[in-house]
Amino acid sequence: MQATLPHPLLSQLSERLTLQMGLHYPPTRWGDLERGITAAAPALGTANKETCVRQLLSAPLTHRQIGILACHLTVGETYFFREKRCFEVLEERLFPELMRACTRANRPLRIWSAGCCTGEEPYSIAMLLDRLIRHSGEWNATILATDINPIFLQKAAEGLYSEWSFRNTPLWVKERYFQRRRNGKFEILPHIRKRVTFSSLNLAEDAYPSGINDTNAMDVIFCRNVLMYFSPEWIKKTGQNFHRSLVSGGWLVVSPAEISNSLFPQFKATAFPGAVLYHKTENPKSQISTAEYSVPVSHPPPNALCMSAPALPQASEDEEVDRSLQNTRTEISPEATNGPVQPVKVHCVASAANLEEIDALCRISRFHANRGELVEAVKWCEKAIAANKLNPAAHFLLATVHEELGQSEIATQSLIRTLYLDPGFVLAHFALGNLCLSQGRRAEASRHFDNALALLRAYPYDKLLPESGGLTAGRLVQIIASVQSNLSHRPREYKEKNSR
Ligand SMILES: C[S@@+](CC[C@H](N)C(=O)[O-])C[C@H]1O[C@@H](n2cnc3c(N)ncnc32)[C@H](O)[C@@H]1O
Repeated sequence: MQATLPHPLLSQLSERLTLQMGLHYPPTRWGDLERGITAAAPALGTANKETCVRQLLSAPLTHRQIGILACHLTVGETYFFREKRCFEVLEERLFPELMRACTRANRPLRIWSAGCCTGEEPYSIAMLLDRLIRHSGEWNATILATDINPIFLQKAAEGLYSEWSFRNTPLWVKERYFQRRRNGKFEILPHIRKRVTFSSLNLAEDAYPSGINDTNAMDVIFCRNVLMYFSPEWIKKTGQNFHRSLVSGGWLVVSPAEISNSLFPQFKATAFPGAVLYHKTENPKSQISTAEYSVPVSHPPPNALCMSAPALPQASEDEEVDRSLQNTRTEISPEATNGPVQPVKVHCVASAANLEEIDALCRISRFHANRGELVEAVKWCEKAIAANKLNPAAHFLLATVHEELGQSEIATQSLIRTLYLDPGFVLAHFALGNLCLSQGRRAEASRHFDNALALLRAYPYDKLLPESGGLTAGRLVQIIASVQSNLSHRPREYKEKNSR
């Protein structure tokens, strides 16, 4: 199709789509872009494509507009066990080693399917692990599956597939893991479906790695047949963010068509028979080397949180922490912070030096948390609290680390302390809501979410929330609204991105 819309409009629209969705529309693809916009226009509130483009350009795209555009502009091509050789390498080489290392470290294997489409990819991973675990014991893995397209996510959570999803798929997949339904569809078995958590995440706009959306401390990230639609700048940025989302020794899996020495320079490209995977090692080499990898003996436990801005490269973060370590002046004995909440004088008068010190201690704590060294992270956070008990951000950080350690009671106490010190700490209300939700206390969760929403009314849409690692007020409103609608509708597995 030839583009008929004015070229300046198409040019501005493609810039906007790159900026907010990562999608790349050079002039040669403007015909496709126009076709997509024509199809999306009615859902966007107008039947006229030019009016639609002008409306889209009048302000930054909202989450709703991005969702609608994603439904018409992104490609939903996928099937079970796509690119079979890659799955063979995972089954024979990577997963057994990684699972052993995680068992030794007493932590779950963490996998993320980014751009999961309608679920075929993450469910294939779950089936593969199920086969391996059958021989080796208990399930000890988490699979996060994210996409920008809400309709794909809904379909993924339903787990109902037609024959088309099994093209080129080994026979045992359908036989062992699906139940045939009367309408000719195949339904994934519940024990596989429950292994995957689906969640909305825009790789070009949302913050990651982040403990808030559980996108940190990953062992393996799959992002296959997604980046090929991104602009080169966005491929690079996404590669950097994935690098930071992975633990040391972790792996990035892209499709064969996306292998590129220049786009993922921070990884070591490692060739296995029939597949090239990207390895996060201390000394990445730009050329492809053949597989001779080893999984770290002492693999870190799952991570707590990453609050730093997504664009910061790893090296500068480490340097910053080194500086902080040198600048830390105090010898502070960790003090217990787990006792009952005592009424405290909230008006904390902290000197600039004291604030600087707390900030440095918290940064060191985050640094350890980001590396999966949670016990160490708690230690530094407690030092920050000992330096000034009245700093709400330090209590919030401690809560997040404890939550990741699975210590929800202590996490709750720390969140209550945070709110005692600063009742306007939006993320603490939100985190309390999530904690209640994970414990099945829905009414209480709803109250905490309402509190967060009430506070968010005072924030401009684009305002970055303190201690959030790049989350804007507007985005949190959308996330809470989505979690709340899930609370009332009780959908199966699809959760908006951080209703952990
Ligand atoms: C071709 S499918 C790939 C599915 C699967 N990974 C595979 O290889 O079979 C591409 C997916 O990327 C998703 N996608 C595109 N842009 C995205 C973005 N900015 N953030 C997250 N997902 C995105 C699309 O919605 C679509 O589901």
